[in-house]
Amino acid sequence: IEDDWPGEPSNEYWREELDKAEQELRQGDWRAASHRVSAEQLRGSGRARWLLARALDAEAEARRDNRLLTRAIAAYLDVLKMNERLADARLLEVADKTLERIRFRGNYLSAEPVYRLLIRRFPDVPHYYNNLTISFLMANRADLAELVLEETLQKWPNDRIALAHHGFVLKTQHKRYEEAVEAFLKALEGDEGPATEPRFYYHLGDSLLLLGRFTEAHEVHKRGAALGHFLSPAQRSLYNVDRLKSQPWWDIEKTPYNKLARALEKSWKDILKEGEKAKALYEKEKEGLKERGEWSQLDLFVRGQEIPNRCKTAPVTCSIVRSEVAASGCRRGQVKFSAMEAGTHVRPHVGPTNCRLRMHLGLSNTKDTYIRVDQETRQWEVGKTLLFDDSFEHEVWHNGTGTRLVLIVDVWHPALTAAERRTLPPI
Ligand code: LMR
Ligand code: MN
Repeated sequence: IEDDWPGEPSNEYWREELDKAEQELRQGDWRAASHRVSAEQLRGSGRARWLLARALDAEAEARRDNRLLTRAIAAYLDVLKMNERLADARLLEVADKTLERIRFRGNYLSAEPVYRLLIRRFPDVPHYYNNLTISFLMANRADLAELVLEETLQKWPNDRIALAHHGFVLKTQHKRYEEAVEAFLKALEGDEGPATEPRFYYHLGDSLLLLGRFTEAHEVHKRGAALGHFLSPAQRSLYNVDRLKSQPWWDIEKTPYNKLARALEKSWKDILKEGEKAKALYEKEKEGLKERGEWSQLDLFVRGQEIPNRCKTAPVTCSIVRSEVAASGCRRGQVKFSAMEAGTHVRPHVGPTNCRLRMHLGLSNTKDTYIRVDQETRQWEVGKTLLFDDSFEHEVWHNGTGTRLVLIVDVWHPALTAAERRTLPPI
């Protein structure tokens, strides 16, 4: 391993060329720098490769061009091919930069070879193992994450970050809730350490709910709320705007959505017909929210956009929804028909965000059906609307007969500003 860049030219002229390119890059002249370091005579120079990558990177940034960024990342990876000849500090400098650009580009799988290098060089640092796990999870490759986790926990059985992610994989991939709870409890013990993140409290509490261990779940929810990870023990959405008024049930008349509600109620028979006529298009709920029964939905709008051509099957419904842009344009919600068969129980759960309120229009077979939001249970009525905040824990029972149909219309929380409605990332 060399102290400085490998392949530093022995000829003074070429060393000065590299110095000049470095200077040019500092001054923002990536064009000149890139030209200078591309000389044939600098082929074997690590420093030339590094400067070339940085020049491409600067150009990508200046032009806001993702294809150039991909080339810059490839160029950084090219520098890392020299890893065996790079000193620790140099390797870290190049690896950090490469990983930062890979994350920015959102191409998480290409981080793997970089982390493998770091793990090989620093086998006693769990951080690199854990970040590789996280990259795999970001790339939706829980299968690969799991292999890394097993290795990590073999070496460091008490590593809290690894334990928390293992809990997450056990719960979400394998439904092994007991083991997930064990892992989360160790990761979050004493409410301290690097794994005390909102999402791990959420998944610990949710695992306990799935196991029917309600008292323990409530304790976890109280802990999470006390730490500021949840808005309250009952309101556990993770994507929140903090100042918004929080209440489980809303009085529609006291919101700007009264006109929408009255219009939906007035046309409920047409809406019911449209919902029933489209039966073939419904899709089964697959988030694992129901404990028993059958539950299917037909999306009309998702994240503020119509499902292509869907409104042709429900023109009356859509035209009413479109009359309120806080509904049709609600990028943190949906508009959908929801059909629930008799005997269904939807277990306690929360929605992802406090930025929406959820309006329901009862359409059919509402007798002996119940919805609990936080502490208060209500019933649907055919032709009548309800409004609640689904970031609070809620639970549904259909103890009646026939298919209960409701139309669900999410609307922006009334206190969100126009700018927030425009710019909040969709969910
Ligand atoms: C929910 O939003 O979880 C339920 O209220 C949906 C439904 O169809 O009742
Ligand atoms: Mn729900």
